[in-house]
Amino acid sequence: MNYCAYLYPKREKEGYIRFMIERDRAVDAREIEKQKEYMRKMRDQNDAHFAESGTRRRAFVLTLGCQQNEADSERLMGMAVEMGYEPTDTPEETSLIMVNTCAIREHAEKRALSLVGQYKHVKAKNPELIIVICGCMVVQEHRLRDIKMRYPYVDILFGPSLIYKLPEHLWNRRCGSRRVFDPDDCEYRVAEGLPVRRESSYRAWVSVMYGCNNFCSYCIVPYVRGRERSRRREEVVAEFRSLVEAGYKDITLLGQNVNSYGKDSGFDYDFADLLAELDQIEGDYQIHFMTSHPKDATRKLIDVMADSKHVARHFHLPLQSGSDAILRAMNRKYDFQKYIGTLDYIRERMPDVTLTSDIIVGFPGETEEDFECTLAALRRARFDMIFSFQYSAREGTPAAKMDCQVPKEVVAERFERLLALQNEISYESNKKLEGKTLRVLCDGPSKNNPDTFSGRTEGGKIVLFEGESEDVGKFVDILIERADTFALSGKIIRK
Ligand code: SAH
Ligand code: SF4
Ligand code: F3S
Repeated sequence: MNYCAYLYPKREKEGYIRFMIERDRAVDAREIEKQKEYMRKMRDQNDAHFAESGTRRRAFVLTLGCQQNEADSERLMGMAVEMGYEPTDTPEETSLIMVNTCAIREHAEKRALSLVGQYKHVKAKNPELIIVICGCMVVQEHRLRDIKMRYPYVDILFGPSLIYKLPEHLWNRRCGSRRVFDPDDCEYRVAEGLPVRRESSYRAWVSVMYGCNNFCSYCIVPYVRGRERSRRREEVVAEFRSLVEAGYKDITLLGQNVNSYGKDSGFDYDFADLLAELDQIEGDYQIHFMTSHPKDATRKLIDVMADSKHVARHFHLPLQSGSDAILRAMNRKYDFQKYIGTLDYIRERMPDVTLTSDIIVGFPGETEEDFECTLAALRRARFDMIFSFQYSAREGTPAAKMDCQVPKEVVAERFERLLALQNEISYESNKKLEGKTLRVLCDGPSKNNPDTFSGRTEGGKIVLFEGESEDVGKFVDILIERADTFALSGKIIRK
């Protein structure tokens, strides 16, 4: 398979060459200033509306997809608030709806399109409403065309690398410009200095890098998020420090492959160095990170984690498949032996670590033997938890063109077997925690049962217990009394 055409599609070439020559990935400060000027103009207009009508214009953001999108949505809402909108959690009676889409699987795209379909009625009731669709889905040419034609009431559309342009696009559309279609500039910049409105007052995201260069053959991310670019170390450290100072307890460093942090910057400073530097910041908090690609999860990184004070003993290391033939076809660049060597080293250095992984079932050409290798891998790796996915063909990726797609019924049947095995393993791993006292970050009343409180362990396991409102956002010690497959339960040990 010749990957070149996929790696550097024509429309990207010029921007990519410039990107390789320049080292500073930041969006020009004058550009950010310009956006701030648009924010001020929008704010004046929205304040005038408030003065006249007594009600604030409202903004709603709906987020699909991964944590990176959640972090982006917090910036979108940060800009909206700066522009004088009031955040709301329903799409009704709003002046601005933003749908932050995901393209990772067909299901995510269908969901986004069906939601956008429903907003037609909201817009019919309220013609001043502006509908924005952004995120990974809209970068794809076929989706862009589709939205242009089939959803004429969508006002503004932009890709994930251009979220900083929201104020300019909104202003122009408000002033009567035509619909805006700005999927991607292919320059892959990092926009600093945007306002952010965080959803939580104790859990926060900090992006350390954007994009992906790995081109796993099934995955759409490199096409929609562009090339890897790291944020400047000083920016990351400053944002992180301010979160610790503001009392945040759980901070997750984000990147499609955090191990690539710094590789594009030309400095001798990698992700493990960043983690070690952040760990020095004093405070009562824990650090998570996602995602780490097994091909370059180094011993140095594992050692930094094991020797750290604040890095949570949780490693998410996506395996994808236990078959070496499938891993090769996926372009993952490791085999199971290398993978398990890394996992064993993590356990050797941190025996109480929680290990989680991602598995794809039904990649093109996956035979029954390949699938059994995945089952055997699960038995050997004994993950605490996995996120499992049925393969979904993504237009434009090499795997989608492979002529050996696995029939849907076969995928569904394998998927069930995978879940059944993992449930047994998760149950056994949870059972070992009975009688132990674990530090849990309390999230408050559980969604399913408001009489019980819910929180998460360092490894991300859900724990149910009887709590009090002042426990929310704090670490509590819980004696685990009962373990189930998907959750633990116990009681608070008050000091
Ligand atoms: N950068 C991360 C993954 C982000 S996507 C990493 O490399 O680990 C999250 C997960 O979605 C992937 O790990 C993979 O298991 C799954 N995934 C990605 N593309 C998929 C596809 N086309 N079909 C099914 N699952 C997919
Ligand atoms: Fe997708 Fe692979 Fe990049 Fe993860 S590392 S985002 S799976 S291409
Ligand atoms: Fe989806 Fe884009 Fe994340 S495709 S998984 S929202 S990077």
